[in-house]
Amino acid sequence: MSDRYQKILTDPLFLSELEKIRFYEKERIYCGHDIHHLLDVARVTYISVLEQRQTDPLAFGGQDLYELKDIIYAAALLHDIGRGREYEDQTPHHEASSALASRILTACGFPAEQIHQIRALILEHRGQRITPATNGPDLTQLFKEADKTCRLCFICPAADSCKWDESTKNQTVRR
Ligand SMILES: [Fe+2]
Repeated sequence: MSDRYQKILTDPLFLSELEKIRFYEKERIYCGHDIHHLLDVARVTYISVLEQRQTDPLAFGGQDLYELKDIIYAAALLHDIGRGREYEDQTPHHEASSALASRILTACGFPAEQIHQIRALILEHRGQRITPATNGPDLTQLFKEADKTCRLCFICPAADSCKWDESTKNQTVRR
């Protein structure tokens, strides 16, 4: 077991960017991008992966489960970390997040292959697909879905004016 993602939680650049997001979003009434959202995405994605692995032990290319957990938690913790940069200079946040992730993951000692996989998940959560789609359960797809399904629209006080289409608002807890 690696749990290398734990190192991100004390990384100075991660913490300063998270604080920047908190500052810019303190008046925001819609979905925020704080540590709770980041961990919701990690947990929902990981639960989905565990469910898939129950029915297909070789799902996700048979990648080691602890390695997958490290990759999922790291990608989730960093997928919106560029929001502060987007508020500052309109850099699309998935691009800013990917660039920040490269620095943070390197500082946390992630191997190059995992950094590549994590940055792809971050870029693909908003942008175009850059890795080949796989047959069967797909980590990119589960990650994108988790980013949406973890939002609690059914209890949100700002739901009436939210830009999300009614049909996409979550009316239940799925995971
Ligand atoms: Fe997100």
